Amino acid sequence: MSDTPTQHPDTPATDAARPHPHLVVTQEGPVLTVALDNEARRNAQLPSLWLALAEVAASLDPSVRVVVLSARGPSFSAGLDLSVVAGDPARAPQGEPDLFEVAARGTDEAAEVIAGFQRGFTAWAEVDAVVVAAVQGHAIGAGFQLALAADLRVVADDVQLAMRETSLGLVPDLGGTQPLVSLVGPARALEICATGRFVGAQEAVATGLANVAVPRDELEATTADLVAALLAAPEASLRALKPLLRSAGSADRETQLRAERETQVTLLRGLGRARAAAGG
Ligand code: CAA
Repeated sequence: MSDTPTQHPDTPATDAARPHPHLVVTQEGPVLTVALDNEARRNAQLPSLWLALAEVAASLDPSVRVVVLSARGPSFSAGLDLSVVAGDPARAPQGEPDLFEVAARGTDEAAEVIAGFQRGFTAWAEVDAVVVAAVQGHAIGAGFQLALAADLRVVADDVQLAMRETSLGLVPDLGGTQPLVSLVGPARALEICATGRFVGAQEAVATGLANVAVPRDELEATTADLVAALLAAPEASLRALKPLLRSAGSADRETQLRAERETQVTLLRGLGRARAAAGG
């Protein structure tokens, strides 16, 4: 998307932070914009970035109602920074774990390290704010998985989504397999991952991977419109809706029906209290 974070017209910028050299976080009232910011390397992702993303999600201010995951420059993200798997200690970025060395540790220890990386992606499903990804250009591997970590995706017409882990002899392991399969089904997910081919904007919308595709220069405005529409919904309903719909795909019918009833009772009580307070 563009070089500036998504602006919400009604709310002044209140805070901007850089929790990682490649991440800019800006809060404008109820909207938090998390922008990848390493354009020169097409927002390639270091493991330390994943830890920073997890931390941003974990420390989300309760006033945040919508999160926008975006990226500066022509590409959303070229995925894993390949220097961490180059097998060349001289080229390895300082302070980043060597993934081969991590894997060589005990199975439990390696799993724990990777679980920490995964939280940078899965944490966005767990926050009660709605998370929108605004995706332009290439979103490859970890880049595609970050887009899949959001609840909604707005894509530019130049988007090129690809799962390239298999091509590297790996598998997608940053929380992307479940949302991919639930959106496109197991057969297409297998084909996309196994071939590493690009999925363009039209196919992304047709298969449900993206909510909408727009010309590249309209990505920011369309995202802002969607954010405004989300903010226009009653806050308590919106916050309750996300976990309810997320559980719908995996819960058994009785559990889901109970969740619907219980959520509704809570909301009805809140509406009743508001009515009474307004003298209705
Ligand atoms: N890691 C490190 N550096 C990268 C990078 C990556 N993944 N992708 C791009 N860069 C760097 C390039 O080396 C180049 O650096 P220099 O200017 O120093 O030469 C710079 O970013 C710009 O790249 P390009 O000139 O290639 O830019 P482009 O716009 O023509 O192409 C691209 C963009 C299609 C994304 C291409 O760069 C590319 O194919 N990158 C590799 C993508 C990839 O295979 N990523 C791994 C995915 S698998 C994964 O993510 C694993 C996992 O989760 C476990």
